[in-house]
Amino acid sequence: MTSLQGCHNIDSLARLAQRYLPRLVWDYIEGGVDDEACLVRNRQAFDGVTLMPRYLVDVSSLTLSRSLWTQTYAMPLGIAPTGLAGFARHGADLMLARAAQQFGVPFVLSGAGTASIEAAAQAAPDQTWFQLYVSREQRITEDLVRRAAAAGVQHLVVTVDVPVHSNRERDVRNGFVPPVKPTLSAIADALCHPAWLARFAKQGLPRFESWAPYAGEGASARQIADLFTSQIPFTQTWRDLARLRELWAGKFIVKGILHADDARRAVEVGADAVWVSNHGGRVLDSAPSALSCLPAIRQAVGPQTVLLVDGGVRRGSDVIKALAMGADFVFAGRPMMYGVAAGGQAGVAQALAIFQRELSLGVAQLGGWGSATHTPVQDQGL
Ligand code: FNR
Repeated sequence: MTSLQGCHNIDSLARLAQRYLPRLVWDYIEGGVDDEACLVRNRQAFDGVTLMPRYLVDVSSLTLSRSLWTQTYAMPLGIAPTGLAGFARHGADLMLARAAQQFGVPFVLSGAGTASIEAAAQAAPDQTWFQLYVSREQRITEDLVRRAAAAGVQHLVVTVDVPVHSNRERDVRNGFVPPVKPTLSAIADALCHPAWLARFAKQGLPRFESWAPYAGEGASARQIADLFTSQIPFTQTWRDLARLRELWAGKFIVKGILHADDARRAVEVGADAVWVSNHGGRVLDSAPSALSCLPAIRQAVGPQTVLLVDGGVRRGSDVIKALAMGADFVFAGRPMMYGVAAGGQAGVAQALAIFQRELSLGVAQLGGWGSATHTPVQDQGL
């Protein structure tokens, strides 16, 4: 069986994670909405772009580091927010945070995270960003924002692409939809994953830690989850977004934008960055790939606005492609979940190291960052 160190690419890390995880958790991480066409489209978009190399250039002292606002990161790749990470491995959010701190890349704690904002900010004081799902009750939203600021978080990511629940059929089949009630076959499958099961049985059900204070003292994981699902998803509007912008003094990032007009409007409302994303193909199956939306959005917001992107990034070359098409910084979700499932913090570090190695080879082979120009091949969205 391949070891963590034997994983030389993200795909092999995924296979290791899949072996460790019960089907219920693997499907939750890996799955997309409906027919998973958007999931496939995200990957195809990258495959449909080529990069033009330039030779006879000195590439002996290239750097991968990238600055965003006042901070410099080791490379232009961060860890996207992933809810319920604690199901992959107990303590996963903090493992992700610590690996990010170790590497010098951003870690975005999910609003559905299984560590609290305070714990994540402590684990990665320089790298923790907080992703917010706006809740039905304004007092909860406002308190989460206040707590993020108090914990020293400087980047707030507001996810806007989940107005209602989405139909992830793998989760429906496994009984992993609220109120969670795993099917007999999912339970039987979990019993066949003793390493995962032993950890899970020892540590108990992961909780939406940031939400614990709102569920009342001594609330169980189930009660906190019930509160969470009664509050989210909530259909927010531009007016809610503008109000949030006023509440937050730090960098304000709007995640889940695909339309150029929405990107422009987010900037008008005061966004410091637009995060181009279709939620990793988990929300609207007919949505375009995030990559294909980049050029129009870049054109709409101009060169000054910071553009982030995610969805289907599995190779260092994907990061280069996204940057060549207009992004300033790139994020990956599932690859980091594969890492944490396969090997905890060391597994996330392995995922980041794989990207870093591929990036440095890719940039050198292209003759430097500046020379990377893309040629779209097949993506209709271009
Ligand atoms: C997500 N994503 C997500 N996004 C968000 O804003 N808040 C969240 O809580 C979650 N939760 C979540 C859980 C899991 C298991 C996955 C896979 C994804 C979406 C995530 O931030 C990101 O947009 C996608 O994961 C990017 O696509 P890739 O890198 O997974 O292909």
